[in-house]
Amino acid sequence: MRVKVGFLLRSLLIIGTFLALMGLWSKLLSSQNEDNNPFERQMPGRDNNNHLPNVGGNGHAVNKFQPVVPWPQVEGVEVDLESIRLKNKNAAQQHVADNNQQNAIQKQYVTFKPQKHVYSDPVLRSGVLGNFEAKEPEPQGVVNGPGEGAKPFILGSEYKEAVQASIKEFGFNMVASDMISLDRTINDLRHEECKYWHYDDRLLTSSVIIVFHNEGWSTLMRTVHSVIKRTPKKYLAEIVLIDDYSNKAHLKERLEQYLKQWNGLVKVYRNERREGLIQARSIGAHKATLGQVLIYLDAHCEVGPNWYAPLVAPIAANRTTCTVPLIDAINGNTYEISPQGGGDEDGFARGAWDWSMLWKRVPLSKREKERRKHRTEPYWSPAMAGGLFAIERDYFFELGLYDPGLQIWGGENFEISYKIWQCGGKLLFVPCSRVGHIYRLHGWAGNPPPAHVGSSPTLKNYVRVVEVWWDEYAEYFYASRPETKAMAYGDISELKKFREEHNCKSFKWFMEEIAYDIPDNYPLPAKNVEWGEIRGYESDYCIDSMGHTNGGFVELGPCHRMGGNQVTMPTSK
Ligand SMILES: *[C@@H]1O[C@H](CO)[C@@H](O)[C@H](O)[C@H]1NC(C)=O
Repeated sequence: MRVKVGFLLRSLLIIGTFLALMGLWSKLLSSQNEDNNPFERQMPGRDNNNHLPNVGGNGHAVNKFQPVVPWPQVEGVEVDLESIRLKNKNAAQQHVADNNQQNAIQKQYVTFKPQKHVYSDPVLRSGVLGNFEAKEPEPQGVVNGPGEGAKPFILGSEYKEAVQASIKEFGFNMVASDMISLDRTINDLRHEECKYWHYDDRLLTSSVIIVFHNEGWSTLMRTVHSVIKRTPKKYLAEIVLIDDYSNKAHLKERLEQYLKQWNGLVKVYRNERREGLIQARSIGAHKATLGQVLIYLDAHCEVGPNWYAPLVAPIAANRTTCTVPLIDAINGNTYEISPQGGGDEDGFARGAWDWSMLWKRVPLSKREKERRKHRTEPYWSPAMAGGLFAIERDYFFELGLYDPGLQIWGGENFEISYKIWQCGGKLLFVPCSRVGHIYRLHGWAGNPPPAHVGSSPTLKNYVRVVEVWWDEYAEYFYASRPETKAMAYGDISELKKFREEHNCKSFKWFMEEIAYDIPDNYPLPAKNVEWGEIRGYESDYCIDSMGHTNGGFVELGPCHRMGGNQVTMPTSK
């Protein structure tokens, strides 16, 4: 019985609903005929809804069915479908336009910002002194004082012990340095022709960045003094010192007091822990916000006469050009300054490497000489030494600064050089911009790497650089340094992505077009068959090159299991 009543009720419900729908439908059709504005008619239609229970006889049931009643969709159909289509189409077009805009921004970003700065090429006018040359000789720091004119300053034997101690601590003869004026004059080592170049004065401004760690006082301050003295005021935005966690007293309060004389032109920022030279330079790029160009200098340099205009002019003309001054050698004992050896007849060399990634210099090739009109023009170099260079600030950021995975020291000079060349920029050595640099002396105790860094950071850096940039040439590196093959070098996927996104060229292209002369000087090594120590059968002595290279005699030495001079690599040749 219960079943039958349920069936009856359900049948009534269905019939009632059917009638209700029919009623509604006929009402809507008739209202459509009466009025061409259906939307207005639907508002009273909604009121009709209230009558439905009467039609259907079961208000509750009909209310329950309301959602499936077709009329809410009628609303949509009747509201000018064409305008909706149009609206959707516009939205789609807008979307496409937004996408295009996005793509354009993306593309612009990945291929570097365009050159906007207007700059004319420098002009050589024989016999007419260049517009940036000093009009009169620079005054001496101390008249006829020690080391003036970069003449060698030699201390008597009574200073011997103090000198030795300072060399051990700082790597230089600080006793002599402390006696030489911070404002001393130096010798002009430039080619005579350099004095006759005229530069457009729409040069870019610069922040000079100097990273130091436990540097001696007078060598650091002489660097700062020389920059302030020899850089035209209007282009020197600031000098930014990055203290990489020094612990020497003279670099604390005394330094800050001393810098006050320049009213904020020279600033010092201090790292919270030892970051190492590489990342400290990247930190410097973040801190140095005032200049358009970043000029990196080591903490023991002296910039030469008119060093600025020739160094920055190529960057002002093309923002993806990076420049390096010619680096002269300041003797760490006597402070005499002389040109580096190893160049061509003008003393010009290009930056290079051997296949174990050691820094090398090769004389300027014939092909490079022919590229120039005048011998003192900037010339292309495959690599930079690393400590001294100038780069447009935004461009350096667009390049991603240094690989954040590089630690402490080593390989970063190659990383930035490959990145610049392979991704469409240029690296120039500028003969008319000269900067003296003190090379550390034997007997320096050095700065041990901080505890938070694992073993052989420099070798790991090399592997990272090779893995990202060398392509199939990586094999030559591993042939030269087989002990690095199993080294964990960390994640390089971001760098690979950068290389892809920026359409950077292959290392093969780079070797053929830019670094073509390096294999002439440092032939590609043969592939190794095996490698390891050659150890005595019953002794603990190994064959050791004792540091001899290229055909020197081998000797026997105690096995140290560190590779290096004891690595023997029978080759397939
Ligand atoms: C800048 O130098 C790059 C690399 O040599 C070159 O492709 C580009 O055309 C130069 N841009 C200008 C504005 O000269």
